[in-house]
Amino acid sequence: MSAFTLTRQLPVDATIAALRADAAVGLTANPKWLPPKWFYDARGSELFEEITRLPEYYPTRAERAILDRVAPEIAAATGARTLVELGSGSSEKTRLLIGALRAHGTLAAYVPIDVSESALEQAGRALLADYPGLSVHALVADFQAGLNLPDCAGPRLLAFLGGTIGNLLPAERAAFLRTVRTALGPDDALLLGTDLVKDERVLVAAYDDAAGVTAEFNKNVLTVLHRELGAEVDASDFDHVALWDREQEWIEMRLRARRPLTVKIPALDLKVDFAAGEELRTEVSAKFREAGVRSELAVAGMELVRWWTDPQGRFALSLARPAR
Ligand code: SAH
Ligand code: AVI
Repeated sequence: MSAFTLTRQLPVDATIAALRADAAVGLTANPKWLPPKWFYDARGSELFEEITRLPEYYPTRAERAILDRVAPEIAAATGARTLVELGSGSSEKTRLLIGALRAHGTLAAYVPIDVSESALEQAGRALLADYPGLSVHALVADFQAGLNLPDCAGPRLLAFLGGTIGNLLPAERAAFLRTVRTALGPDDALLLGTDLVKDERVLVAAYDDAAGVTAEFNKNVLTVLHRELGAEVDASDFDHVALWDREQEWIEMRLRARRPLTVKIPALDLKVDFAAGEELRTEVSAKFREAGVRSELAVAGMELVRWWTDPQGRFALSLARPAR
């Protein structure tokens, strides 16, 4: 019997409280910034899916190419009975893992975790229809706020795909990997997708596409601020900016004010002044090298046991285990 449950570990009022806190801190900081998780309301999740189909946005295709090739190997190496996925979104590429784990004869449950309830609902119901007998336990939760996993059979495979780990700042990444390590039992494994350092032109084009979909995704955070906090803001007052930071080896997305303006945020009793040309950082997207991934995993108490890339070396999948 297939089953789909959706549990809100993050109540709606806690989400709004977290957005208020992030906006109060980030919009009064110098330079101004906001965490990228606020892109992903229902529209933001749809826009991300559109991004994955853009000719310039190679990471999804590159990661799918790796999964296409190695999913059976991952299934054999992990023998996972439960697949937990962090930031699962549409769970599209995950189908390759689900298919391989079912062919291997082990998978009983899939636990997708995301802040986007709409993405979880859509993905969960579609999976249920396509994989009879699979139990899907979706969790609306913030994976940066600790991992409170349901009591599912081991071994478990924790998948964190798409390069979303690159959207965490270095200290957040270290804390997150420690949380993952704590959640892993001795027979569990982590499957981690990381985008790799490459030619700056390829990277910038992936975050500044010709059709303007990424610009719309970036500006969607202003819509979220308007709807949830009453922010009086006009998206056409801002330009989308994507640039490569060579030292940090990350892409930064920013919103740049076209003119001097003040954004009133009634819910925070706050007025945010922007000078002409002033920028608000909305996302970092770090790009990685094998040595860096290995060492960040080791610091968190995990051992890199397999490293796969696509044929063009654009993206990597790592399989890691608790260090012995
Ligand atoms: N894994 C998918 C989706 C990547 S988009 C893929 O590879 O295509 C990033 C996803 O992570 C979005 O669905 C977003 O809602 C989710 N997300 C971002 N920050 C999050 C957080 N702190 N906690 C839980 N989910 C988060
Ligand atoms: C989800 N995450 C890995 C995407 C990325 O590439 O950093 C989000 C994104 N931002 C702009 N385009 C896509």
